[in-house]
Formats: sequence, C-alpha cells, structure tokens
Amino acid sequence: MLEIHGVSKSFAGVHALESIEFTVSEGQLVSMIGPNGSGKTTLFNCISGFLRPDAGKIVFQGKQIGARAPFEIAQLGLSRTFQSVRLFAKLSALENLLVSMQQHQDDSILGRFFHTPAIRRHEATATARALELLERVKLTAHQAKPAGELSYGQRKLLSIAAALMPHPKLVLLDEPTSAVNPVAILAIRDLLREIHAEGQTILLVEHNMEFVMELSERVVVLDAGRKIAEGSPRQVREDKRVMEAYLGS
Ligand SMILES: Nc1ncnc2c1ncn2[C@@H]1O[C@H](COP(=O)(O)OP(=O)(O)OP(=O)(O)O)[C@@H](O)[C@H]1O
Ligand SMILES: [Mg+2]
Repeated sequence: MLEIHGVSKSFAGVHALESIEFTVSEGQLVSMIGPNGSGKTTLFNCISGFLRPDAGKIVFQGKQIGARAPFEIAQLGLSRTFQSVRLFAKLSALENLLVSMQQHQDDSILGRFFHTPAIRRHEATATARALELLERVKLTAHQAKPAGELSYGQRKLLSIAAALMPHPKLVLLDEPTSAVNPVAILAIRDLLREIHAEGQTILLVEHNMEFVMELSERVVVLDAGRKIAEGSPRQVREDKRVMEAYLGS
C-alpha cells in the first residue's frame, strides 16, 4: 500500500532523513520508533504532503505522491493525526468530526450552496459515521461539548476519530499516547486493536514501547535520520543497534 524508496530530507544542513526504505502492506500495523529528533515526524510530513522530500520516491497504492499537495493525498485515502492535537476548540466534538470529513471530500461548492439531494445524502452519511466513531471512542455523552473543554486524552481520541472519519485506506498516527493518562492509553490501544482487526492499515509513530510491542506486526527503527533496524517487535527489542541508539552510546 505504501512504499518509501530512498527518501531523504535535509533542513539547512541537518540530515533529518537519509535514504529511508520500507513498505507497509494492506492491513498491516507498522510502527516507526526512534529517539527524539530521529526523523519520524519529518517522514510523516513527507508522506502526507506537508514537506517535499529532497530525494526518493513515495508510492501510495501504486501512485507517486511525493510531489502532491496534502489535500490531494488526503483525497487518495491517506489520513493522519499530528503530534500536537489539532482540533477546533470552539466546535463541538461532533462538529469537529464533520469538519474533518469535509477536508477529505471533493464535492462542488455549488452543490453545497444549493443543498442538493446528493449533498444532503452526504451529510446524513457523515453524521452517521461521526456518531458511530464517537461511540467507539466513548465520547457520545460529550458530542455537544466544545473540543476545547475535553480532557487531553479525550481530545487525542477525538483527533484519531477525525482521522478515521473518511474511511481512510491508510492512517498515520503521530504519538497517539504522548501525555495521555493511563486510562485513555488503554482506550486508544483498544481502538487501534479493533480497527486493525477490521482491516485498517496503520502506520504508527510512538515512544511508548509497551504499546508498540503489543500492537505492531513490524517495527521500523530510525536513528538520526537513518533506518537502523526493521523487524518483528521481538527482533527489534533484541537488536544491539537499537539498544545503543536508545542508550545514546
Ligand atoms: N521544519 C523544520 N526546520 C528545521 N529543522 C527541522 C524541521 N523539522 C524537523 N527538523 C529537524 O529534523 C530532525 C528530525 O525531526 P523530527 O521532528 O522529524 O523528529 P522526531 O523523530 O519526530 O522526534 P520526536 O520524537 O521528538 O517527535 C531534527 O533534528 C529536527 O530538529
Ligand atoms: Mg515527532
């Protein structure tokens, strides 16, 4: 589903990514780990079109996406969350989900203006999907609450729900559990486990090793912009280079 071929990106002399190679197959849950500053978010930004790689190729479902704009990549079926939660604080939980759906749609402004039957059908489907996701992230009781009034863990859950709204083919999650309380971490783990079991393809960036080891089929390890290991959670945990990278030696 996703192929990363020789992707490199530098910022004013800092090699954030150097010739990264890996693939994610349909239905897999792959995690990307690595110490702070190893290039994980930079790679997410390259995949989702927020940054353009200096070199290399990114292929999503057979199409090269390295030079496309974020909205085009979203419309191809690739969704993401951000390391810091991005929601509209004054909009309700439900409205946030509906807005996120619109960002992935490519319907005409005219249709929206005249409120055509097609648009009304779209809206009914989007609302049903939003209510289903709110239920899954246990926010039904908070659906009318402004997102800014939810707890941090609830906002993280809502942002994952927002990424799932358009039924993406691939979802990229950047540190879903960071700064989240233990109860919300369990809710996020259960949600990811469920959607993965249903066939959702997921690329996860995470510092919480227990979480990564429990959920992932494959783990890719970056250190200072290079891929230093890749394998099953067990292989990666026992890899000497990985231990050294984390111990800073
Ligand atoms: N927009 C930018 N401008 C300049 N340097 C950047 C930019 N974005 C990232 N970098 C640099 O690129 C390197 C990789 O950063 P990145 O944010 O991708 O790391 P990360 O693995 O996501 O780290 P963390 O685990 O802390 O989120 C770092 O040295 C960072 O300072
Ligand atoms: Mg990051």
